[in-house]
Amino acid sequence: MDALLRFLPRELASEVVAIPIALALLVVAFSLLPTKARRRARQAAALLGLGVVATLLRAVVGRDPALNRPLVFFTTFALLASIGRSLVLLVLDVVVDRHAARPTPKIFRDLSTAIVYMLVGLVTLRSVGVEPGSILTTSALLTAVVGLSLQDTLGNLVSGLALQMQRPFDVGDWIEVDGGKHAGRVTEVNWRATSVMTIDDVEVILPNASLARAAIHNYSRPSTISRRNVVVGVSYAAPPDRVHRALLDAARDVVGVLATPGPSVRTLSFGDSAIHYQLLYHTNDHGHGLDVDGRVRDRVYYALARDRLEIPFPIRTIVQPQGVDPAARRAAEIARHEAAIAGVSLLAALPPDSRRALAERSELRMYGPGEAILRKGDRSTEMFVIEEGEVSVEVPLGTGGSADVATLKQGDCFGEMALLTGDPRSAAVRATTLCHLLAIGHVAFQSVLCAHPEVVDELGRLLDERQAHLDAAAEAHNNTEFDAGPRSIRLIGRIRAFFKLG
Ligand code: CMP
Repeated sequence: MDALLRFLPRELASEVVAIPIALALLVVAFSLLPTKARRRARQAAALLGLGVVATLLRAVVGRDPALNRPLVFFTTFALLASIGRSLVLLVLDVVVDRHAARPTPKIFRDLSTAIVYMLVGLVTLRSVGVEPGSILTTSALLTAVVGLSLQDTLGNLVSGLALQMQRPFDVGDWIEVDGGKHAGRVTEVNWRATSVMTIDDVEVILPNASLARAAIHNYSRPSTISRRNVVVGVSYAAPPDRVHRALLDAARDVVGVLATPGPSVRTLSFGDSAIHYQLLYHTNDHGHGLDVDGRVRDRVYYALARDRLEIPFPIRTIVQPQGVDPAARRAAEIARHEAAIAGVSLLAALPPDSRRALAERSELRMYGPGEAILRKGDRSTEMFVIEEGEVSVEVPLGTGGSADVATLKQGDCFGEMALLTGDPRSAAVRATTLCHLLAIGHVAFQSVLCAHPEVVDELGRLLDERQAHLDAAAEAHNNTEFDAGPRSIRLIGRIRAFFKLG
């Protein structure tokens, strides 16, 4: 050693001591580790190799002050980390594993190594003259950012440790998380997540934090035996005790079904078309549980068929929709509209062909209770025949609000004033119940009036009557905004002019 120290620069004295220690620990750990676990010594070996290379580099270029400091840091860290890693292996993988009932969980091994590396990092920083505490305290913002970004990671780490301490499952156990949302065999638990291999051979990674909150079914605890069941519906004609016997017989000798505890049957419910029975049996291979269920179902089928016990189909009455001819439906619709038009006294005088023409060109509209159909002052010109329902005619008051002037029902019509004169709507009309209304447009009416000009006199009289009523309502409510309308004679003239009737 003295000869070596004389040969190497004085500053490399600590490395010359650390390298043999690291090498010795590595050799001891490697030789004591079980053969399968020997690859865990790779990290320590790699670090030692890096430390040696860095030491040699220092010996060559170490006099350069720009290179010396980083090389000191690197060498010290690599050699100390190698020593630390070998010690972790010796303690956890050799000493603890030999004395504990089960191997040390990977999460503990990973965490111990991480803590050792962190401590080595801090010591190394000190050795090159950097105070680690000062780095953390220099920036409160940096600390906050690091703290926030590590929130989830730390949560997972703590949950992982808690899971390992409580040990709700081990690697190799069959588990179901959150009522079957995730199910499979646990393959690994590390510091962040737990890996589960599903029966479809898909790996699912579950963060430890979510596992710590979830309900976990462990099918490997307290033993690998768990109960499964198959439900089958059998005819009402079959006596239950015969069915029980047949089902028990069916479950016997199925590969995967345990003889003890033996299978059992319970009558589950009286369904629409069958009595439902539940056949229960135990298996000790949860991973192949679905295959066992399938084999049991096959046997149930044969056993019931042998005993002439029927698995009935659900009984349903199927109603075939009758093909409705669109033309026939339209004809029925027009006939209904025509009848509604004939029921309006004002239009009853029209000959059947005119009523039919109006019915063909009208349109059915539906309004819910409370819906506005017309607003006072609107410039629309359709007339409405009430096929079904009830409406109220309202006039707005200057003081706000409105006054009802009339209630119209099936067989009445409204909107004729604007239709015949082209004036703005004289009142508002609102549905008070569900209404089916027949809307007749100005153009449809024009062709009818051209053929039957005598209807105009009749219409003029109705208009006059309604207008007088509106005037009276306005006066009663002292509604100054309300404008008294034209009188009958003038109305008839206006209707003729509006419809261009000579
Ligand atoms: P129109 O002015 O086009 O729009 C509002 C409708 O309310 C009006 O036609 C008439 O059909 C109707 N109407 C107005 N006053 C009365 C009333 N006194 N009685 C019945 N209906 C009316």
